[in-house]
Amino acid sequence: MFYPDEIIEEVRLNSDIVDVVGRVVRLKRSGSGYKGLCPFHNEKTPSFSVVPSKQIYHCFGCGAGGDVFSFLMEYDNLTFSEAVKTLADRAGITLPEESVSEENRIRQRERDRILSVLKDAALFYYKKLRSPDGKSGMEYFAGRGLKPEIMRSFGLGYAGKHNEVCTFLKEKGYSDSEINAAGLVYADEKKGIRDRFFNRVMFPIMDAGNHVIGFGGRVMGNGEPKYLNSPETVVFDKSRNLYGLNEARKSRKGYLIACEGYMDVISLHQAGFTEAVASLGTAFTGEHAKILRRYTEDVRLTYDSDSAGVRAALRAIPILKSAGINARIIHLEPYKDPDEFIKALGRDEFQKRIDSAEQSLSFEIHVMQREHDLSDPGERTLFQQKMARRLSLVEDELERNNFTEALAAEYMMDSGMLKRAVESSRLVDLDPGEIRGSLSTGIRSERKKSSEKSGLNEAEKLLLTYISDDPDRVYPAVKPYIEADDFSEGMMRICAEELFKQIESNELKVGSIVGLFREPEEQRLAAEIFDTGLEPGLSNTEKEQALTDLIIRIKKESLKRQSFEDEDDPISRTIKEKKVLEKLTRVRISIQ
Ligand code: CTP
Ligand code: MN
Repeated sequence: MFYPDEIIEEVRLNSDIVDVVGRVVRLKRSGSGYKGLCPFHNEKTPSFSVVPSKQIYHCFGCGAGGDVFSFLMEYDNLTFSEAVKTLADRAGITLPEESVSEENRIRQRERDRILSVLKDAALFYYKKLRSPDGKSGMEYFAGRGLKPEIMRSFGLGYAGKHNEVCTFLKEKGYSDSEINAAGLVYADEKKGIRDRFFNRVMFPIMDAGNHVIGFGGRVMGNGEPKYLNSPETVVFDKSRNLYGLNEARKSRKGYLIACEGYMDVISLHQAGFTEAVASLGTAFTGEHAKILRRYTEDVRLTYDSDSAGVRAALRAIPILKSAGINARIIHLEPYKDPDEFIKALGRDEFQKRIDSAEQSLSFEIHVMQREHDLSDPGERTLFQQKMARRLSLVEDELERNNFTEALAAEYMMDSGMLKRAVESSRLVDLDPGEIRGSLSTGIRSERKKSSEKSGLNEAEKLLLTYISDDPDRVYPAVKPYIEADDFSEGMMRICAEELFKQIESNELKVGSIVGLFREPEEQRLAAEIFDTGLEPGLSNTEKEQALTDLIIRIKKESLKRQSFEDEDDPISRTIKEKKVLEKLTRVRISIQ
């Protein structure tokens, strides 16, 4: 963190979140807060809430959330210190220069310098393409059907003769090591630095805030390697960057298209599909998926239709799934990639393919099927067994049944038979005790565990929301029964600790608790913790009952944890447990 906490708190105190959010989102009063259409995902009914008393925002739809700083960081793609600076400027607060630690200042200066090298290089390539020297580059792009306008918006350029950019940057006053740190050159002890890119058309890679962070350079025509990319640098992290996201994040179509490469993204954008991004050659990562999840839970993959593309899609599906994204596959047959497809059939046909994109599960099964000759009874059996196994892994029962029926019909199987195969395949995973249980309840033990856990988390969030909503009345009422250590380890406990501490010292600012976390994921969770949907209009008695239930629930779990911790003394454990449980049954929360 760059500024001392007091300064950050002062900026926070002087920046009203309703005002900051209200500049870009139309907010309507709702109860004690405000509601509006979420600016971070596409929606028709407002699920975005701003709570002035807590100075936080939170979307019940997409899970976005945080404090006034994180709002600016997300919405305007600012860094934390940029957000602090923006708000300080607005509030007329002067930020102390010297508050930046020396180490951070050096690091920040180095980053700025590298970004500035990259920006100058990008401008150089850009101008080069449009100069007489850039003729072959121009011809190459024109030959691929790119219009000047799209070339401009993607900042396309051309790297001409060897060492031109090196020379240019040195003349501009950058040192060899700065140019090297930007990833633009090869450094050689004897020969010094030499251009990495020459005689290639250049694709600048931009982050979501439109800073150039790296380049891809393509040979014109055939040659190896086809693409040469910047290495990872302090500003370029391949696993966290998606090409085209700076534009795609604004598209608000409700879904995003993920494709493989530079040219796919550019030709899709040119055809009006500005919702396209690419992971650029590197495998799709969990980081990529998490970033996409901020904008949508519906991603359509349009990978090359060759076997490498199919393999890449199969790898991406579970990664997307575990980030909470439902993936579908856009089929391009008989064309190889979206670029070729659109050139051949046009944008309307492509839109149809987007609309009819195949669900990832049926895609997986169709790929599986290709390996088996269904006219051979042995192969057919093998395929059906694999299909049943795959279906058995679908956790949601409705989804599992629907797919089972659809696939049975498609492959002309008896659906009852496939269903039985699926269910018996599910049981293989379970141990005998669990099988008995699961036969009657249909619930898999693992799922039960995870839903119990999420039930507990839900309870903890609700309780913290209740307390922070009405600290004067609720806190004293629950205080005799519960302490921060009763909350689950991690975020939940830190939030509880901080909340209780602030209430005790009479200086509650929920926004500052959210602000303790700087990772966007954590901020979102923290905002959710303090803005969990409470049922509106509960009577006092109902509230008291709800609080009592929550306390008992949380206390019981906490007790389980503790008894687990001093396991070696079973007798005293049992006595202790009994006592607490007894006490718990007598809990009655009353709020005045
Ligand atoms: N890629 C790379 N290095 C290579 C080949 C590919 O980094 N030697 C990355 C690039 O980001 C490329 C993506 O993988 O955009 C997809 O590769 P490919 O399908 O071969 O390229 P296209 O984007 O389709 O480019 P083109 O249409 O120019 O062939
Ligand atoms: Mn391709």
